[in-house]
Amino acid sequence: MLQYRKGLKNMPAYDGTDKYYTIKVNANECNMAMPPLVNERVMNRLASVPINRYPGEEYYDLTGQIAKNFGLRPENVFLGNGSSELIEKIFYCFGGSKAQKIVFPDPSFSMYYIYAQAAQATAVPVPLEADFTLDLDKFVTAINDNQASLAVLCNPNNPTGGVLSVSDIQYILDNIKTSTCFLLDEAYVEFYGRSATGLLKEYPNLIVARTFSKAYGLAGARVGYMLASQAITEMIGKSFMPYHMNSLSLAVADICYQMRQEFVPHIQIMISERKRMAELLKKLPGFAVYPSETNFLLVHVNDQKELVDLLEKNDIGVRFFSSDNKRLKDCIRISMGTREENDTWYGLMKAFAEGRG
Ligand SMILES: Cc1ncc(COP(=O)(O)O)c(C=O)c1O
Repeated sequence: MLQYRKGLKNMPAYDGTDKYYTIKVNANECNMAMPPLVNERVMNRLASVPINRYPGEEYYDLTGQIAKNFGLRPENVFLGNGSSELIEKIFYCFGGSKAQKIVFPDPSFSMYYIYAQAAQATAVPVPLEADFTLDLDKFVTAINDNQASLAVLCNPNNPTGGVLSVSDIQYILDNIKTSTCFLLDEAYVEFYGRSATGLLKEYPNLIVARTFSKAYGLAGARVGYMLASQAITEMIGKSFMPYHMNSLSLAVADICYQMRQEFVPHIQIMISERKRMAELLKKLPGFAVYPSETNFLLVHVNDQKELVDLLEKNDIGVRFFSSDNKRLKDCIRISMGTREENDTWYGLMKAFAEGRG
C-alpha cells in the first residue's frame, strides 16, 4: 500500500475530462483565434526566446508592463501558471490547519472547495440567495464570526455570472478585519468593465487575481497574475518553486498584453453574443437565464440531463453540474462561442424546448 499524504484519498478531483468537442462551450474559453496582427508578433517573439536559459527577463518584462498599467510597482505583481496556480498557493499560504477558515460564496468557482481542502483549511461556504445574489452582510458576518484567514469573492461570479459593484466590494473591505486577507478573483472582469483594482492602495489586505485565459484567449499558455501589497506578494511568493513560469508562455503573454487593444473587438463580440443568446434563450419554454456580465450564461432548464445528452450526441460540450453542487443540478453553463457555433447549439435547444412543450 503506498503511503500517500493524509487526506489525499478523500480530496475531490476537478473533472478534467476536457474532450475536444466540435463545439466546445464548456470551459469559458475564448473560441476565436488570436487577432492576426498579434499572432504575427507572437510568432516572431517566440523565435527569439532563449529557451536554453531559465526564464528571467521575460518574467520582469511582463510584471513591469502590468504594474505600469495599474499604477503599481513590479513588486506588487506576481505571475502564476494561470490564476489557478495563484489561487491554489494563496489558499495554501492562508491554510495549514483546520483553525484557518476560508470563506467564499456558494455557488462559486468549484475549485475554491478543493483548494481549501488541499490547504488543510476549513472551507466556510456562504450560500447565495435564491436568485444567486450575495447578501453582503451575511458574507461579512461569516468572515468576522469565523475570524477568517482568507475571504474569497469571484466578481463577476462563475458559474452564476452575477456581479457586485466596486462599492459593494469596498463595503466588504470596510467591514472585515485587516487580519483577514481578501482575495478578489477577477477572471471575467474584462467582460464587466468594473474592476476593484483601484482599491489596492487603500486596502493592504486585498489581493486581485486576473487571468489571460478568458478575454485574451490564452487558456493554453497558462498565465495569470495577482496584484497585492509587496508584503503579500513576498509571502505568497515563498510557496512557489524557482522559475515556475516558462519563458515561452511569458513571451506570448507579454506581446498580448502590449497589444491588448487588439483584443477589445473580441471582448465586444463575446459580450454581444452573450446578450443575443440570453434574449433568445429566455423565450424558450422551460428555460430561465440568469443575468450575466461574463462570456457565459447560466441557464436553468427542465430536463437538463436529456438536453445535455442531446448536445453530447451532437458533439457539443456545455458545463453541467449534476454531481458537484445541488443548487446547480438543473443548470447548464454555456460559454459564448462564435456566432455560428452559438446558432448551432441554440437551434438544438430550440428544437428540444419546442418538442417538449
Ligand atoms: C473564477 C475563475 N477563477 C480562476 C480560473 C482559473 O483560470 P486560469 O487558471 O485559466 O487562469 C477560472 C477558470 O475557469 C475561473 O472561472
